[in-house]
Amino acid sequence: MSREPILRAEGLQVVFQSEESRLEALQEASFSILPNEFVCIIGPSGCGKSTLLRVLGGLVAPTRGRVHLDGRPLTGPEARIGFVFQQHNLMPWRTALENVCLPLELQGVARTVAKDRAREMLALVGLAKFANALPRELSGGMRQRVALARELVYDPDVLLLDEPFGALDALTREQMDWELLRIWSARQKTVVMVTHDIQEAIYLSDRVLTMSPGPGRIAGDVAIDLARPRKVDDLYSPRFAELTRLLRGSLH
Ligand SMILES: Nc1ncnc2c1ncn2[C@@H]1O[C@H](COP(=O)(O)OP(=O)(O)OP(=O)(O)O)[C@@H](O)[C@H]1O
Ligand SMILES: [Mg+2]
Repeated sequence: MSREPILRAEGLQVVFQSEESRLEALQEASFSILPNEFVCIIGPSGCGKSTLLRVLGGLVAPTRGRVHLDGRPLTGPEARIGFVFQQHNLMPWRTALENVCLPLELQGVARTVAKDRAREMLALVGLAKFANALPRELSGGMRQRVALARELVYDPDVLLLDEPFGALDALTREQMDWELLRIWSARQKTVVMVTHDIQEAIYLSDRVLTMSPGPGRIAGDVAIDLARPRKVDDLYSPRFAELTRLLRGSLH
């Protein structure tokens, strides 16, 4: 059965232009993402990953090309698309619960309903006990989980994640990856995630897009044919090693 893509990038180019400089952050990107797919985008620092993700989220308008969401041109941010940034942007004076409530409050959802849903999302990311904590009282990993809960609370179909766990230590990141896979399979989301970690990309994805250094282009599109659910032992399988080599080759 063929499925229609939920997201389609068509000849995307992004040029940042000022009076004294012109920088082509994205040269050309065309690809499709299917509903419920988990796709990672990987590439060296500065190759345009965040820029590409912002275009997919309707946060940056491309200089050329277009993004289609369910076949319709994307013209700006949409409630169907959630975005978790490289650095969390929680409000420091609001508790975890109040931060997660915020998108619902902005939508005019009744306070008690919003609080119930926010509590449910905090439980989903394993933070039920920290509802009343302020961001500064949480660890880095916990803050990123609150940021994730805040995006999940309005139930977007697509989650765009820009190195959400990039600033965390390797062990915490591994744990967060597990949580993310659990949420993804329980909630039937489409996920596009930027990372610079080849193993993380393979471990999580159905497909990995690789980007070449500036100006950014999509250099490779590699299907990850490891069975689901993924297991820790997959990391040591011959196929995992083969895929790692393949992706490394595609990046250089
Ligand atoms: N708003 C902006 N104005 C001007 N130049 C920008 C802007 N945003 C990004 N750039 C430039 O575009 C290029 C790509 O940046 P981008 O943040 O997309 O890279 P990245 O692949 O996400 O890097 P990293 O892995 O370090 O996060 C860089 O050269 C950057 O300096
Ligand atoms: Mg980036």
